[in-house]
Amino acid sequence: MLPALTTPRLLLRPWTEADIDVLHHLWTDVGVRRFLWENTVITHGRAAEAVRSMTGDGAPHGIGGWLIDLRESAATAGFAGFRFMPDRSAGEIELLYGLDPRFWGRGLATEASRALLRHLWRATSFNRVYARTDMPNAKSIEVMRRLGMKKESAADGMVVYALDRPPGHRPARVC
Ligand SMILES: CC(C)(COP(=O)(O)OP(=O)(O)OC[C@H]1O[C@@H](n2cnc3c(N)ncnc32)[C@H](O)[C@@H]1OP(=O)(O)O)[C@@H](O)C(=O)NCCC(=O)NCCS
Repeated sequence: MLPALTTPRLLLRPWTEADIDVLHHLWTDVGVRRFLWENTVITHGRAAEAVRSMTGDGAPHGIGGWLIDLRESAATAGFAGFRFMPDRSAGEIELLYGLDPRFWGRGLATEASRALLRHLWRATSFNRVYARTDMPNAKSIEVMRRLGMKKESAADGMVVYALDRPPGHRPARVC
């Protein structure tokens, strides 16, 4: 079971199947889907599949998806989480995040991601995390930079950033 995480402004709560409607609504928003789902309007079933696979694959390793709720109002502002990269056999993970556009420009994605990275280094055995996006997604690249991630590669319209386990943070025995 993944933990809930708190920051000064946010409650990050592990998503469950009860959150599929909220996530489908968020993921089909015109501002969110542009880079996250290659601008396609995914079906409710596709959203459910994404929720289930991130949860099922990740839970044994201490990763998965969280909803980002504002502590002040309990409104859901977005989501963030970690999932295995497409070549699952390599065991590499990537950080994902997205906010309802009404909540852009307040530092919430960076605040949520920092909390998730603290969780990653404290409670899992992963030593490196990636983040990828399409090159025009400047706002997402700015989040990666604010998190201290370094550019690894840029090819085929996609930019890849990475962050290594900070010195002094010993891996937890999870996997
Ligand atoms: C990527 C995405 C989450 C970035 O959102 P964002 O609001 O720009 O990022 P943050 O929440 O970290 O906020 C940073 C902005 O808030 C500002 N800000 C305001 N108050 C702040 C505070 N208290 N602390 C930090 N930053 C603050 C920052 O200056 C920055 O503004 P700028 O963009 O004008 O420089 C958003 O564009 C999104 O949801 N996109 C769709 C999904 C997506 O593409 N995801 C990435 C693929 S994984």
